[in-house]
Amino acid sequence: MADHAAGSTSYRPDAQIASDILGYLDTHEKKGLLRFLTCGSVDDGKSTLIGRLLYDTKMIYEDQLAAVERDSRVSGTTGDAPDLALLVDGLAAEREQGITIDVAYRFFSTEKRKFIVADTPGHEQYTRNMATGASTADVAVILIDARRGVQVQTRRHAFIASLLGIRHVAVAVNKMDLVGFSQRVFNDIEEEFRDFAGTLGFDDIAMIPMSALTGDNVTARSDAMRWYRGDTLLGYLESIEVHREDADAPFRLPVQWVNRPNLDFRGFSGTIASGRVRPGDEVISIPSGRRSHVARIVTADGDLEAARADQAVTLVLEDEIDSSRGDILCAPAHPAAQSDQFQAKLLWMSETAMLPGRQYRLKTGNKTVGASITALKHRIDVNDFSEEAAKVLKLNEVAECNLSLAQPIAFDPYAENRRTGSFILIDRQTNETVAAGMLDYSLRRAQNVVWQDLNVGRRERAGQKMQRQAVLWFTGLSGAGKSTIANLVERRLFDMGRHTYTLDGDNVRHGLNKDLGFTDADRVENIRRVSETAKLMADAGLITLVSFISPFRSERQIARTLMPDGEFIEIHVDTPLEVAEERDVKGLYAKARAGKIKNFTGIDSAYEPPLHPEIKVNTVAMTAEDAATAIVDYLEANGFLTSE
Ligand code: ADX
Repeated sequence: MADHAAGSTSYRPDAQIASDILGYLDTHEKKGLLRFLTCGSVDDGKSTLIGRLLYDTKMIYEDQLAAVERDSRVSGTTGDAPDLALLVDGLAAEREQGITIDVAYRFFSTEKRKFIVADTPGHEQYTRNMATGASTADVAVILIDARRGVQVQTRRHAFIASLLGIRHVAVAVNKMDLVGFSQRVFNDIEEEFRDFAGTLGFDDIAMIPMSALTGDNVTARSDAMRWYRGDTLLGYLESIEVHREDADAPFRLPVQWVNRPNLDFRGFSGTIASGRVRPGDEVISIPSGRRSHVARIVTADGDLEAARADQAVTLVLEDEIDSSRGDILCAPAHPAAQSDQFQAKLLWMSETAMLPGRQYRLKTGNKTVGASITALKHRIDVNDFSEEAAKVLKLNEVAECNLSLAQPIAFDPYAENRRTGSFILIDRQTNETVAAGMLDYSLRRAQNVVWQDLNVGRRERAGQKMQRQAVLWFTGLSGAGKSTIANLVERRLFDMGRHTYTLDGDNVRHGLNKDLGFTDADRVENIRRVSETAKLMADAGLITLVSFISPFRSERQIARTLMPDGEFIEIHVDTPLEVAEERDVKGLYAKARAGKIKNFTGIDSAYEPPLHPEIKVNTVAMTAEDAATAIVDYLEANGFLTSE
């Protein structure tokens, strides 16, 4: 066991880490850095293993060690020896707070290398945390409990590691002491693992029999397993040759901000994602396609002669070129591509299912754009890697799908560049990160469809009708009175000589949307289609009335963004569920309560009321006639009933 006595070494890495982690990493700049990730559940001995690595390489702060020694006498399972699992679990106590940033990064170093280990919880629902840790890792250390062998969990970990582009895997077959250090047990596990992992495309797989508890084959060779001729885990981590694509790949600088402190200085700041750059190099900005040469590489510590992946720099170019946040400065011989249509892989990380057609925000590098999944091609079963048809994607599921973005982004396929080919999806309402994704390739389809200029403009069309176009969007529960009020409003407008049309949920579902039912996914698609249709009608100059339950905020928000400011008027027909159910005009509530209709809004399907509707109609306090008057008054007051 390593000697950890206080003050036994002149250099105290732990002290420096505590006070100055960047300084520490800087001191060790000459040594190579290896990033790895551990996957396995606590039961597999993961905490003990990380604790052992930190302990044996003297990375444990003395005060923490004292605490662990004290606690292990109370609650530990190891007698008088410190229970190393308590150390890691103690350090990770903050993880109990929430599961969003559930990756703990730890640092340690040896004579040969410095290490960053991403420690991610191992339960199935934490796959997303593994994805977070894995996206920058060079090596995945997958733990297997020798007594239990290869588990579903093991396959999942291997699959996600491969999905996220990790090329090197070390399988730590742990707790060998509990199977009598049996070579046969180890061989069986090795055979089974190599058998399925063979299809996952790793460059190499190392299998290491060990005991994190006793230290066998972790940092010191095991006397009990002389039959094993390979490296210890630490030996492996110190010597594995990782092909670092970052420095050799074509130059990429995703622009984080345009630095313009005064008129004489303009630089593009960001962290180099891959490749190298020197003054004099030509660069091209994607998407704009403008080229220039690098005049200076500016950093806080002065100008550099060269810079490479991972360095934060500001590039000053010889010419003024147009480039803004989210663009990528690239080597012109191998520029990044650009597209707004992709095939991609998604790892869904939210409790709320992914619905095709729903609008999310996609963030890649420094750019955030609107995005929706246009087709879920298939789900991938992470247990046997088979493909299966699916309509929605749930927590921890992986799928291949088509993505459509609101505007083109610069990108590389993930297989070529993990930094510029990865993205996350963010929920528009909650800001939750709902998925991690990898761009496979651009779907060229949309590039051949361009906007056709029309001779007659929308304003002209409305002007001819002596009005201003608008979408009046009525939302509310079934039976709230949406259609009744919309009908009255349309009749009045018509009688005033206005040009209108009404899209009604029940009617549109007999034609355009007759293929759709009432699942969340179908409702999202229902509203997407009717939003686009309403936009076309408004473009034609009509005052368009839309009367749909439209239960989700997210889709109503999208409908709003399709229209110019002020021309989308959301009307919440606010009738309490009890009242709508009591009226039960179509007898549907009775059927829903009797279980004869599934997914009925308000009963077993959600309704999200608008937060800031332009107009709110309380049908308990107000008659339908009065509501119609209020709406027509609103149109009048806001200039919709006169031409500009
Ligand atoms: S939406 O949720 O997708 O916007 P939409 O307005 O098109 O719904 O259709 C709602 C109408 O379909 C209701 O007014 C009702 O007549 C009928 N309907 C049939 N089944 C359901 C259901 N499960 N939930 C809600 N409405 C239903």
